[in-house]
Amino acid sequence: MKPQKSQSSENLGYFHRIFQSIFPDPIIPKSEQERKRYLLKNLILHFRPATIPEKTLKFSLTWGLGGMAVILVLLQFGTGLLLKFVYEPTPVGAYTSILMLQNEVVFGQLIRNMHHWSANLLVLIVFMHMLRVFFTNAFHPPRQFNWIVGLGLFSLVLIANFTGYLLPYDQLAYWAVTVSTGMLEYIPGLGVHLQEMVRGGSDIGPATLSIFFAIHTALVPFGLIILMAFHFWRTRKAGGLVIPRRPQEDIEEKPIRVPTVPNLLVREVVTALVLLAFILVFAMVFNAPLESKANPGLSPNPTKAPWYFTGIQEMLMHFHPSFSLFIIPILMMIALLGLPYIDYESKPSGVWFGSYKGRKMAVVAAITATIATPAGILTDEYLVDLAAWMQGVPAFISNGLIPFVVVLAGSIGFYILIKRKYSATNNEAIQALFVLFLASFIILTATGIWLRGMGMKLMLPF
Ligand code: HEM
Repeated sequence: MKPQKSQSSENLGYFHRIFQSIFPDPIIPKSEQERKRYLLKNLILHFRPATIPEKTLKFSLTWGLGGMAVILVLLQFGTGLLLKFVYEPTPVGAYTSILMLQNEVVFGQLIRNMHHWSANLLVLIVFMHMLRVFFTNAFHPPRQFNWIVGLGLFSLVLIANFTGYLLPYDQLAYWAVTVSTGMLEYIPGLGVHLQEMVRGGSDIGPATLSIFFAIHTALVPFGLIILMAFHFWRTRKAGGLVIPRRPQEDIEEKPIRVPTVPNLLVREVVTALVLLAFILVFAMVFNAPLESKANPGLSPNPTKAPWYFTGIQEMLMHFHPSFSLFIIPILMMIALLGLPYIDYESKPSGVWFGSYKGRKMAVVAAITATIATPAGILTDEYLVDLAAWMQGVPAFISNGLIPFVVVLAGSIGFYILIKRKYSATNNEAIQALFVLFLASFIILTATGIWLRGMGMKLMLPF
């Protein structure tokens, strides 16, 4: 069958022809020669396969999160480029240029708001995308390396947010970055040097601002472009998205495939438009925060890290810094990197939580964390003072090693118990352990954001 497009394209208007080259007709030509011509002429099909497995179209498989992350990154590039026309990366000029942008530049405030809110949303969306990849078991071979690339992307998104945080150079920025970079000091051996390197000196100042500006506007965007291209290539190399399949089902020999255009394209365009509309409205209603100009002599009380680091800051309240800022984060990172390389008894794919049992165990883990984490925080805050009880013992042991061993033993105990109770596979038990840590980290983050007041004391949020 001849494709309709080639029959009618002679008669199309100029703009119509351009439109068609971007959004091609959803007709897959049969002969090899026609197929080559068809792919060559269409922009989208240079980036996308012409057909995709029908089962991967289901919105609840991905929730469109990867696509949303792409849109948000592009929006960051666009709005960031506009901000660069006005912003001045010096301690004297930074704050004033932001004020000028907001008060004198047409749509300046709106552009800043969009840049600010979509940056924060990006952290959330990328985090949720990571969780969906984990819970749909899309990190197993052949996608294991794409999981590692994804972790690199997540780190870049966090670095982008953190370096951007300092740029307005107001009180919030100055002190949040002082606290966060101050944490580096506790990394054994390297800490002080690393801190000096990041700050460009011993304190936050002009050198810090230019380092953060260079990382934020050159290094991170460059890294994002390279890693994102690699990420999409790896997704295609793996044969597209993970195809939903129960563990007991055989691998489908030949999944039913449907044309990418319009099936996937329409879904992506709608998701992108809804997301953009949401950000636009949100940015019109809520202004990005801007406090008074940075004052190195006056620290606000409490001084908190940016919200995505408050979980770590909260850990610092309960563990010796060597553990909360170094040993625990490094162990978590190693665990995340190693996840796809563990030898699993079963490898479910594309099914949320793998199985009914997996889902049930995840709920039990979430409930356990919801009880144990606040209990641990309150016990440490009001009941137990290990450092006072063990006078003469180094704080590294009384406040670090001992609570760490208690938490580690509790986690191992939980793993063994839940695996035995449900006669679960190691896949299901590891997933439950992941949920236990995830829920604990979310509770620690929420505590840091809403329940810490003056002097970082626990308080009610109202
Ligand atoms: C800037 C950050 C990121 C962007 C723009 C991005 C984008 C995407 C897109 C568009 C897809 C295909 C559609 C979808 O799954 O929704 C995808 C798939 C994937 N992503 Fe990401 N991603 C990012 C971060 C991450 C992170 C943090 C991880 C995990 C650590 C990750 C792991 C994966 C994997 C394994 C796939 C293949 C999933 C499958 O085959 O079902 N990505 N990503």
